[in-house]
Amino acid sequence: MSPADKTIESLLQHNRVWASERVREDPGYFSRLSSLQTPKFLWIGCSDSRVPANQITGTDPGEIFVHRNVANLVVHTDINLLSVLEYAVTQLKVEHVIVCGHYGCGGVLAAMHRTSFGGVLNKWLRNIKDVFRLHEAELLACPDETARARMLVEFNVREQVLNLAKTSVLQRAWKYEHRPVLHGWVYGLEDGIIKQLVEMQPGDDLHPLYQYDNL
Ligand code: CO
Repeated sequence: MSPADKTIESLLQHNRVWASERVREDPGYFSRLSSLQTPKFLWIGCSDSRVPANQITGTDPGEIFVHRNVANLVVHTDINLLSVLEYAVTQLKVEHVIVCGHYGCGGVLAAMHRTSFGGVLNKWLRNIKDVFRLHEAELLACPDETARARMLVEFNVREQVLNLAKTSVLQRAWKYEHRPVLHGWVYGLEDGIIKQLVEMQPGDDLHPLYQYDNL
């Protein structure tokens, strides 16, 4: 079935086929999954439909705890992201947190231009404009716009990893449990390959002003 032919009904029909195939292959599949969730990984990715966390990492249901938003941002006032992070770190006790951006990200491209998208989206994209401003000299030194957009995608991922490290939730887990490791990745829409950009181990360097000393 081509993507254009898919309907709400066809999605539900596919779901029934998928569920019965799982049970045929492994009768205990759903009873096992429904009783236990112990993912080792938290994924913070872009909402873009072309970057599905499970498919591109070969993971099954139960293996990755997922949060996705426009341009994979870690915003300190985003109660949704913060709730996911707190639950994953303090309750699920994940060992790794992955921020995965992708080249060709529409959110990042939009933030590089001066088009207004109306109310709330402008405010969201402003976080990426701030990342641009932090790295302006380097970005403006790149004459090619496509290459510059790729650079901003990478700077954005690095910045969001730093934003994770600035949270007290993360710092407390680092201090008392020596986990999780933070990873910044970029996915290529053109080739399906994930590139590792940055990794932060518990206790790695963070600007001292962001380090809480009474956790
Ligand atoms: Co995107």
